[in-house]
Amino acid sequence: MEMLHINPKDTNHKDFHQFILGTVAPRPIAFVSTLDENGIQNLAPYSFFNAYSSNPPILVFSSNRRGTNNTTKDTLENIRKTGECVINAVTYSIVRQMTIASVDFPKGVSEFSKTGLTPIPSELVKPPRVAESPAHMECKVKDIITLGEHGGAGHLIICEILRMHVAKNVLDERNRIDPNKIDLMGRMGRAHYVRCSGDAIHTIVQDYLPVTIGYDQLPTSILHSPVLTGNDLGKLAGMVTLPTQEEILIARQNPEVSTALSQINSAEALHYLAKSYLDKGETILGMSILMLDQLN
Ligand SMILES: Cc1cc2nc3c(=O)[nH]c(=O)nc-3n(C[C@H](O)[C@H](O)[C@H](O)COP(=O)(O)O)c2cc1C
Repeated sequence: MEMLHINPKDTNHKDFHQFILGTVAPRPIAFVSTLDENGIQNLAPYSFFNAYSSNPPILVFSSNRRGTNNTTKDTLENIRKTGECVINAVTYSIVRQMTIASVDFPKGVSEFSKTGLTPIPSELVKPPRVAESPAHMECKVKDIITLGEHGGAGHLIICEILRMHVAKNVLDERNRIDPNKIDLMGRMGRAHYVRCSGDAIHTIVQDYLPVTIGYDQLPTSILHSPVLTGNDLGKLAGMVTLPTQEEILIARQNPEVSTALSQINSAEALHYLAKSYLDKGETILGMSILMLDQLN
């Protein structure tokens, strides 16, 4: 891969910002509700955001100094005065209203009225929740860490969740949040977003105990396969044990294996056949086919 090498100190801040946004993506979006000193409601999206601890439950988002005039944003100033916020989830159903809330309305104008979203009372803090969002986290701000003084400098706003509200219609039968039901939006670089449902969801199950075999235990013929991809090798390296002689013998009796073995380039045909089983999630059979040469 030919790489572009970038020194942040020699690069225009706006350009470097976009390299970060395009690489650290997709990012969850905190839809942050606060109150100013006069009780006016404020709502703004923040995608420099994540969860950092679940016990205690800690969320952090960053409010950056504006690149244009080096001023700070209302959310930060409100939090400095009140020490409270509510972080709401942003779903596909409210994504366009969320972008309106990022407009720089004059201080004192509530984004709730501009976006048409509905404020509903919180239980433990004063800022309201967003009724149209299916998940709300009422937070007490524990600390604010200032990262710099120039345009683009962040302020890490460290929030402890005091109460969480989740709509029952986004839960599955085990009370776990179903990604297709909650249908979250993620932020990428520039104006790009990702809708986190449907084909965007990949369910990757990996055994952790006992530990897996790892790449270094894969036979060389498999590691150097012209057919298998890095992800195929990852599936094989993620197996807990190599196939037994019995499993390899069962694979040998598969009629498709006989067909592959009768081809002129039988080694490659076997790798293609094994890959088709790996794609179907039949990892043991795929690996057994790849290990036919290990049959006693
Ligand atoms: C999806 C999205 C994510 C954003 N993420 C951030 C962010 O992480 N930090 C930031 O300072 N501004 C971010 N912004 C811009 C702020 O939302 C915008 O400056 C807003 O006017 C701030 O509102 P406030 O002054 O009421 O706090 C984001 C905008 C959008 C649309």
